[in-house]
Amino acid sequence: MTGARLLVTGIGGAVGGGLAEVLAARGPRAEIVGVFSGERSREAFLARAPEAVRARVRPVVRDLTDGPATLALARELAPARRTVVVHVAANVSWTASLEAARLGNVTVTRNVAELARALGPDTRFVQVSSAYTATDGWEYRNTYEATKAEAERLLRERYPDLRPVVFSCSLVVGHSRTGAIGRFHGIYPLLGLIERHEPPLLPGGRDRRIDIVPVDWVAAELADVLERALDDRPVTDVVAASGAAAPRLGELVAGAVEALDRARAASGRAPVRELTLVPFRRWEFLRRSLDAWQVRGIPMPDKALLDRLIGVYRPYFEDDRVLPPAGIATPCPHWSTYLDAAVGYWLAQRAGRPRALARTGDAG
Ligand SMILES: NC(=O)c1ccc[n+]([C@@H]2O[C@H](COP(=O)([O-])OP(=O)(O)OC[C@H]3O[C@@H](n4cnc5c(N)ncnc54)[C@H](OP(=O)(O)O)[C@@H]3O)[C@@H](O)[C@H]2O)c1
Repeated sequence: MTGARLLVTGIGGAVGGGLAEVLAARGPRAEIVGVFSGERSREAFLARAPEAVRARVRPVVRDLTDGPATLALARELAPARRTVVVHVAANVSWTASLEAARLGNVTVTRNVAELARALGPDTRFVQVSSAYTATDGWEYRNTYEATKAEAERLLRERYPDLRPVVFSCSLVVGHSRTGAIGRFHGIYPLLGLIERHEPPLLPGGRDRRIDIVPVDWVAAELADVLERALDDRPVTDVVAASGAAAPRLGELVAGAVEALDRARAASGRAPVRELTLVPFRRWEFLRRSLDAWQVRGIPMPDKALLDRLIGVYRPYFEDDRVLPPAGIATPCPHWSTYLDAAVGYWLAQRAGRPRALARTGDAG
């Protein structure tokens, strides 16, 4: 029989990859089984992961939307003294249909909870969710928020035996020192818009807070929760958010532009064009006027692209409801200390790639 085991779904994603690094750095507390959706994502992860991670993670491939195949994992893994399942996998698109979001977030959670039950009576379940949603008294801004909340309700109602704990985080950006992150969701498509298209105007409430957190801090907080669960110590729900220290949209955009300019200057490029945030009502008026008068002097990005991207962000630029931090071990580093690294890493990564925006619906 194996000793303690952590079964991590979504280990190939932005949060899962950060968690794998922290767990590997903390030493062998438990066997780590990492679940990938397919061979390709497994190979991509193994190709970019540091040796310490490759040495620790035992990769398995499973499409978690497939209930019987997911349950079969319980027979394939040797019995363990105690298993903690940390369910990180999700469909993080902000624009998915309700059907696709339910499949990725509710059906998959149910399948993984059934697997957890089959792994033994001592198994505990840690669900990774979003600080931008809640199970009660919440008006959902998209299908992502609605289905993450539905998954949480399902766990609490139908799987109390797994003693589920919910770890909710706000928008994840790169490592606080290196800027590194496995995938670019959340604020990165916005960064792509600013860097590539240099719009002179963007809509948004300057004073709305955009709660961002660096991936290494999130991963360390999550690893703490997992360690307590492995020791069978009491674990409470956690909200890994930056709360009142989060930047306002005006500060975030100005900070991102400064960071872009510094990175551009280092490679001999001109700074990005000056960018002004305008309220949505003024934006709509300006957009209509630019179209009606066919103004050429104000160079705006392609209309369809801009409308799609603004449509994705609008709910968050107008309504900044987010859960306050709770149950965290250390306060989140201040955004001004890591934004440069996050922007610099992203810019360096995209330098060698085709000049296309990241998937605009993915945010988490
Ligand atoms: N990133 C954020 O800003 C953010 C903010 C708040 C909360 N969260 C939460 O954090 C968690 C991780 O998000 P993330 O940003 O790391 O997302 P991500 O980068 O898109 O990763 C999602 C992971 O889910 C896995 N997955 C999706 N469908 C699967 C399936 N059918 N079978 C097996 N695996 C599947 C993917 O596996 P493969 O890589 O193998 O395809 C991927 O590793 C989610 O629960 C999300 O709700 C994220």
